Amino acid sequence: MDIIDIEPNELLIIDGPASIRIIEGRLYVLGVEYGPGSTFTVMRGRKVVTKPLEKGRVEIVAGPEGGFEKVDRRSDETIDLWDKVLSGLSLRGSVIVVLGAMDVGKTTVTTMLVNKGVKNGLRVGVIDGDPGQNDIGPPTTVSAAIAENFITHLTQLKTSKSIFIETTSIEYVWNNALNAVVRLVDYLKTRYSVDSIIINTDGWISGPEAVRFKHELVRRVNARYAIVIQRENEARELLNKLSTDKWGGEVITLPSPPNIKVRDRDDRKIRREMGYSKYIMPPRDLVINLREKPIINLPLFRGLTYDKSLLNLARKILGPITYIEQWGNIAIAIGNTKEFQIRTVGSVDVAILPLNWERGLLVALEDKDGYLLALGVLKKIYYNVGKAVIAVSSSFDRENEVNHLRLGMIRLNDNFEEVEKVLYIGKIESMIQSRTTPRQ
Ligand SMILES: Nc1ncnc2c1ncn2[C@@H]1O[C@H](COP(=O)(O)OP(=O)(O)O)[C@@H](O)[C@H]1O
Ligand SMILES: [Mg+2]
Repeated sequence: MDIIDIEPNELLIIDGPASIRIIEGRLYVLGVEYGPGSTFTVMRGRKVVTKPLEKGRVEIVAGPEGGFEKVDRRSDETIDLWDKVLSGLSLRGSVIVVLGAMDVGKTTVTTMLVNKGVKNGLRVGVIDGDPGQNDIGPPTTVSAAIAENFITHLTQLKTSKSIFIETTSIEYVWNNALNAVVRLVDYLKTRYSVDSIIINTDGWISGPEAVRFKHELVRRVNARYAIVIQRENEARELLNKLSTDKWGGEVITLPSPPNIKVRDRDDRKIRREMGYSKYIMPPRDLVINLREKPIINLPLFRGLTYDKSLLNLARKILGPITYIEQWGNIAIAIGNTKEFQIRTVGSVDVAILPLNWERGLLVALEDKDGYLLALGVLKKIYYNVGKAVIAVSSSFDRENEVNHLRLGMIRLNDNFEEVEKVLYIGKIESMIQSRTTPRQ
């Protein structure tokens, strides 16, 4: 434990894990002031820059990798600038989208806005739209929460609803992410009558598709403000689109703080893995009858199964398959292949999946409205009985609410570490959609 003096001409930078108690004086932390007797914590792996507002003393208890340092106030002027700009926004009745590349301070700005809303007595809804680094719900989701207290990080919020979007790679599923955010905005408004909604986003902002996605997002949620945080000039395409293709709100630009330490890819992956295991460990096996609760994006056991002679015929054409099922002019076969493939036989597209294709696939257990109940890992499908064995958290107790499953595009190993992105799940999905939705 350390007791340190604080001075208004310095910044106090705290590295988590650490807990802080103000003994004397006032400290500005992420949009709000803490006075004598108040406490807050900084989580592991996070850095929070705080600003003493007057002379005083604080007590800091830091964990193994935690600590603190004092720097000259002038070394980071964004803290004052951010506060000034964010204080000028009208939060009541507003939806605010926070945008920017990776590691520019989006989560930090979101946190500040949440605190400012809470300070003003507003009921604040928060949505984390980043499926790769989701701080409210599990990775691969877009998640929403309600803020009740001041926070130093979004992970302190209690998840209220999550929507599974199948992978952490936003570029494959941005349409799903977009729809999920729009749904959650609606949910927070109707279910909680929130006064304001703050939306944190992923860092994919470069290229025409990313720009289109982000523009659609601010438009569809009817954002009053789109806050764009920029380090150099990397958000220019996005800023350009937002200012030329008007959507009814205002663009606010902020600089990124000068001293942010950029995390590397491995670090991100490790956090994500911690993310998966956090939601599944310790696991238990859950058996789901897929005839009652189907896989919604791969509707096995809902089609036509082949009798012996048809199966033999199919084997002659497709090779040694162990199972095949057909819906109209598409079919799914399980075969002795190494790689996923699509073969066309007459007018039928046959997707051939390798044996044990399902092992380790991330799967979502969803309720009747499509909200996530739990993440699980598919262990095995028994084709003869139409059942799946799924590893879920042993604390999962909402089995009776499961309406269907949704396959993800990520494969995990036995330690719930990501080992592969399984893109063919997306291919099968689009094959099913394009063959079943009538063409215009
Ligand atoms: N003013 C600052 N100085 C130094 N580091 C900061 C500052 N503000 C935030 N950070 C740290 O920088 C990292 C990235 O910020 P974050 O808000 O998570 O960015 P993003 O959400 O855009 O990836 C975090 O670890 C955060 O604690
Ligand atoms: Mg973030």
